[in-house]
Parts: sequence; C-alpha cells; structure tokens
Amino acid sequence: MAERRKLIAGNWKMNGLKADGLDLASSLAGRLNGAGAVPFDMLVCPPFPLLFPVGEAIKGSPLALGGQDCSFKTSGAHTGDVSPVMLKDAGCAFVILGHSERRADHGESDALVAAKAKAAHAEGLVAIICVGETEAQRDAGQAESVVAGQLAGSLPEGANASNTVIAYEPVWAIGTGKTATPDDVRAMHAHIRAELGKALSDAGAVRVLYGGSVKPSNAAELMAVENVDGALVGGASLKAEDFWAIAAACR
Ligand code: PGA
Repeated sequence: MAERRKLIAGNWKMNGLKADGLDLASSLAGRLNGAGAVPFDMLVCPPFPLLFPVGEAIKGSPLALGGQDCSFKTSGAHTGDVSPVMLKDAGCAFVILGHSERRADHGESDALVAAKAKAAHAEGLVAIICVGETEAQRDAGQAESVVAGQLAGSLPEGANASNTVIAYEPVWAIGTGKTATPDDVRAMHAHIRAELGKALSDAGAVRVLYGGSVKPSNAAELMAVENVDGALVGGASLKAEDFWAIAAACR
C-alpha cells in the first residue's frame, strides 16, 4: 500500500486579527521545531490579510502556509480576488478550494473549483479540494453519488498525488459538533479512493483528509480509520493546544 504521510490542516476561516494569528502560528511553529521527527505534516490557512505576517513569522519552520481560496486567474481586473501567484509570493504551499462554505455562500461550482485548482497547480501550489454531502443528501441515500460527482467535476486535468489533496467534509458535520461515525468515514473514504482510481494513475498515494468537528477528543479514533490521511480542522485549529493535540493523535 502507498505510504501516505498524514496532513493536519488548520482552516482558520474568517477568524483572527494579526496579533492572534501571529501568536497561534508562532506557538505551533515552536512546538513543531521542538518536537523533532513527527509522523505528520502541519499546515495553517489564515485569512488573506494575515498570510504575509504569518508567513514571515513561520519562515524556516516545518509549519506550512496555505490560502483558503484563490482566483482561477493570475492577475488583472478582478476586484476582490487573490491569485495563486500572490499566495505563492506570501509563502503559501497549499490552497483550500471548493470548501462547502464557498460553494454555498459564493455559488462555486465544480467547474470553477477545477479551474481554480488548475491555476493553483500552475503555480506549484497543492490544491486541497473539498467535497461533501449535505444532511438532506445523506438522508436521501445520495452521499456517495454526490461526492463522486463533486470529485469528477472538481479535479482538473493534471491532478496527481503530489499536487492534490482531497478533504471529505460532510456539510452537516462542519461547525456543528456532529461528526460522522468511524464506519461512515471508512465507507466514504474507501469510496473516494475508488473514485480517484478512475481519474488518477496514482490514486493510492493521494491524501484524503476528513473534516467536520474534528477535536482532540475524537481525533485519535478518526485518524485511525483506514484511508484517512489527516484532518481539515476549523474551530479546533484556532487554539494551539487543541490543534497540537489533534496532530499528536496521529500514529
Ligand atoms: P470545523 O470546520 O472543524 O469547525 O467543523 C471544518 C472545516 O470547515 O474545514
């Protein structure tokens, strides 16, 4: 079986001012620097205005930086947008794309997510492509077909295990305190791995993260599930101690 190193990613969403972000990132970078060899990669994705200061603060540490979105264009007359080139310039190695909050609040389609991922890849960024069903879709027995459709539509040409990470985030589990059961997660991650196999030649090496109310108390159980290669963490990534405890649950 392919060796997949776990990725513990913090999605700060629209939270934190400069001082908070610097404290949080510096604390995590310090812990990582002091921990020696760890069995996971760690990533923080602050809001855009914090990317440069946080990037400067963690430079040289193993803590990676990512954006929460990017444009599918490189530059030009696109008011309010941020390009992958700019993310790269700020020190980002990753970008979250197609998060359910962007799909819902900004009407992002699979095709747009694929275009953004393609643009991110062109700049050498790793795209973390998010997929996940709503509660109504799960109740209607459509969870697997919805996720298969999102994957097929959101993966750009040229995607592979080095430039793409998938995050499975059931919409009903995000910020709600509800988590999918380990059995549900196992089944969905196996399904995602199988679907990836239809599109990518190195599907076995793609990291598939779980996200949705991951916290220190459930991390060990979730991270031990087959085909779960890390976590995309929202609320619990805003406290260094909690985020570190989630990472420490990785074996
Ligand atoms: P949550 O968010 O951990 O607060 O549920 C996860 C996410 O939306 O990435």
